[in-house]
Amino acid sequence: MSSFADVIHRLRLWWRRRSRVNAAGALTLVLLSLALLLTLTSWDRENVLDGSLPSSSLNSNLVDLTLLKSAEEKGALCLDGSPPGYHLQKGSGSGSDNWLVHLEGGGWCRNLAACSARKRTSLGSSRHMELQVAFFGILSNVKSQNPDFYNWNKVKIRYCDGASFSGNRDNELQNGTNLFFRGQRIWEAIMDELLVKGLANAKQALLTGCSAGGLATYIHCDDFRALLPKEITVKCLADGGFFLDEKDIGGKRTIRAFYNDVVHLQDVGKRFPDCVSLMEPSQCFFPREIIKSIKTPLFILNPAYDAWQIQHILAPETSDPQQSWLSCKLNIRNCNPNQIESFQGFREALLNSLSEAKHKREWGMFINSCFVHCQTINNITWHSPYSPRINNKTIAEAVGDWYFDRREVKEIDCAYPCNPTCYNLVFTNPYSL
Ligand SMILES: *[C@@H]1O[C@H](CO)[C@@H](O)[C@H](O)[C@H]1NC(C)=O
Ligand SMILES: *[C@@H]1O[C@H](CO)[C@@H](O)[C@H](O)[C@H]1NC(C)=O
Ligand SMILES: *[C@@H]1O[C@H](CO)[C@@H](O)[C@H](O)[C@H]1NC(C)=O
Repeated sequence: MSSFADVIHRLRLWWRRRSRVNAAGALTLVLLSLALLLTLTSWDRENVLDGSLPSSSLNSNLVDLTLLKSAEEKGALCLDGSPPGYHLQKGSGSGSDNWLVHLEGGGWCRNLAACSARKRTSLGSSRHMELQVAFFGILSNVKSQNPDFYNWNKVKIRYCDGASFSGNRDNELQNGTNLFFRGQRIWEAIMDELLVKGLANAKQALLTGCSAGGLATYIHCDDFRALLPKEITVKCLADGGFFLDEKDIGGKRTIRAFYNDVVHLQDVGKRFPDCVSLMEPSQCFFPREIIKSIKTPLFILNPAYDAWQIQHILAPETSDPQQSWLSCKLNIRNCNPNQIESFQGFREALLNSLSEAKHKREWGMFINSCFVHCQTINNITWHSPYSPRINNKTIAEAVGDWYFDRREVKEIDCAYPCNPTCYNLVFTNPYSL
């Protein structure tokens, strides 16, 4: 039942319980409903405009935060030394034995100053995490909004290590700043706890995540597969995590330098022993390299003009001191033909990186030509009348068709501005790093 209908239904029950429903009462009910409808409509419109996700709503799909019990004992700690956490919603009916695990995103920190600043936010400390979060999109429990996964067990793992769940340093005395770089241990310890809570008995499972959590999905996909029995279906869906090792508009390797810092700070290279014997550890942190060794069926969902990547990889502030890209970075409709040409070059680079993935039979992809980021956890982009479509399929339909082997899904959109169903974000400020 939709949130609005749910509220009306409850109001009706409440009125019915009061024995005599008179005319005045009925009028009040109508007025109350109208007021509610207006609130919902304006709130919705705001979300459409700035693309942000509502943190709570009348939809009562709020899920409690659980802090990891074994955090201290396993040294699986957020940057500030607090225990990491996750939100678990139990499955029901035909979904009771199926598990969907989502890894939260939120950029990375590249040095001690930036990681110390993170300790004061939910991305570095569970002391700052919301005690409840609303589940949307692929996490929704409403069938009409999430047709294939609505009744699965669903977990949102909070991100508080600053390096996509993959750093691992023993010593927390980082030049006196006291920072824990333990993403890898957080991953392992939370998986152990979820296995005990029922994941070990899963009949079907899906690891997913967006942005830095999408990168973590590439990194941990085969680990996740290895935790579960061989005979069950396990797949991975990485959303908005295919970060490109491309030069920026000034010809500089901005993202590679950034990843180089993250990888060295948190000793992430250990995760990729084969890759680091061939190239710089920082390059091993890019999905182009990571996917070479992935054996589990993988779905790559990425917009060709990923808004985060346009803002931080293609046209970072440091290479645009005059801010001549600013209005284009906030709204694709403001871009001039030269800027759109750069976007098309970026799209070509993505498609080149995916050329081998296209030939893997069990893999899926959905590369839409929209200016957006994180399309699985937003109810509008995931599955709604306003969803971006390719071949008339929403992202939820494409992912479901691939997961359940209903058809082969290798959807690559034509170049901007060809797709009229695009949902393009409009920002007032760029994404923060
Ligand atoms: C710690 O301090 C030393 C000396 O100032 C410096 O060389 C090193 O890079 C610092 N370590 C980190 C992780 O910033
Ligand atoms: C998105 O979710 C909110 C909260 O449940 C709901 O009010 C809104 O109608 C949804 N939008 C779409 C397009 O499904
Ligand atoms: C597109 O899909 C919708 C259902 O999602 C269907 O109603 C519509 O007829 C389809 N349109 C075309 C052109 O196939």
